[in-house]
Amino acid sequence: MRPVFRYIALPAKLAAAGGTVGLGSFFIYTRHTKFSPVDESDSLINLVEQKGWNPHKNPMVKDLFVRRVPLENIRPELRDSPAKLTRALCAGVWANWSFSIQRALLNRSRNDTNRNHLWSDEELLSSEYDQGTLIADSFEVVEKIGDQIVIRGGDSPSNKGLRPLGAALELSAVINEQEQAVDFGFKSVFFAGDRPSEVMPMPGFVVWLHLQYAKLLLETGISNVMI
Ligand SMILES: *[C@@H]1O[C@H](CO)[C@@H](O)[C@H](O)[C@H]1NC(C)=O
Ligand SMILES: *[C@@H]1O[C@H](CO)[C@@H](O)[C@H](O)[C@H]1NC(C)=O
Ligand SMILES: *[C@@H]1O[C@H](CO)[C@@H](O)[C@H](O)[C@H]1NC(C)=O
Repeated sequence: MRPVFRYIALPAKLAAAGGTVGLGSFFIYTRHTKFSPVDESDSLINLVEQKGWNPHKNPMVKDLFVRRVPLENIRPELRDSPAKLTRALCAGVWANWSFSIQRALLNRSRNDTNRNHLWSDEELLSSEYDQGTLIADSFEVVEKIGDQIVIRGGDSPSNKGLRPLGAALELSAVINEQEQAVDFGFKSVFFAGDRPSEVMPMPGFVVWLHLQYAKLLLETGISNVMI
């Protein structure tokens, strides 16, 4: 599978199959999700640098989506803990149908190396997403600190080296006492990891698909924290 389709299998299929059908309702569905730019001093970019995943300092596709949810709409047992909120968001993102096409495609190449990854809905919903957790031959949890879970992507975790399409994601949940709400975040960065490059790691229409997919993953993931 080409690197980008490991991640973006669902939107690529939807775009190929449906064109603009359903796009209107999609935009209504994700209208509460706000885009934020990610600056160069961002913690996720620092982590990519520390880990040496983008040694050529190639240009990045980088974005953050934030969805605010009132505390009263959140499952009571999660309300006071950013760590529990983030874990539940993470479980919701990977267990949802929005990630299931990719899971099903990669599940066909399940073998002794990746058999012990999280694959089923039950596994994905119940995991603690501790550091070292491996998700469907696609992602590896590299950091779990308080209100953040940071994940490496872009290729099978069995590829420990530099990746043609390197990726890092950060899921977060920040309680805003003043607003009596929680801000759920889905941040991602993509870059060519294995060679010097002056251009973005994906063409414009794939960036657009990625932006829509990121919103969808966040939006469907949040269903797992809501009452
Ligand atoms: C199992 O799959 C992984 C990842 O797709 C691959 O890198 C590895 O070579 C495969 N292992 C075997 C024994 O086929
Ligand atoms: C993966 O494939 C196995 C058999 O090949 C099947 O039993 C299992 O339900 C599949 N799991 C998922 C999550 O698709
Ligand atoms: C996936 O997301 C949808 C829409 O938010 C939600 O209705 C559904 O319950 C979620 N499925 C799982 C398995 O969490």
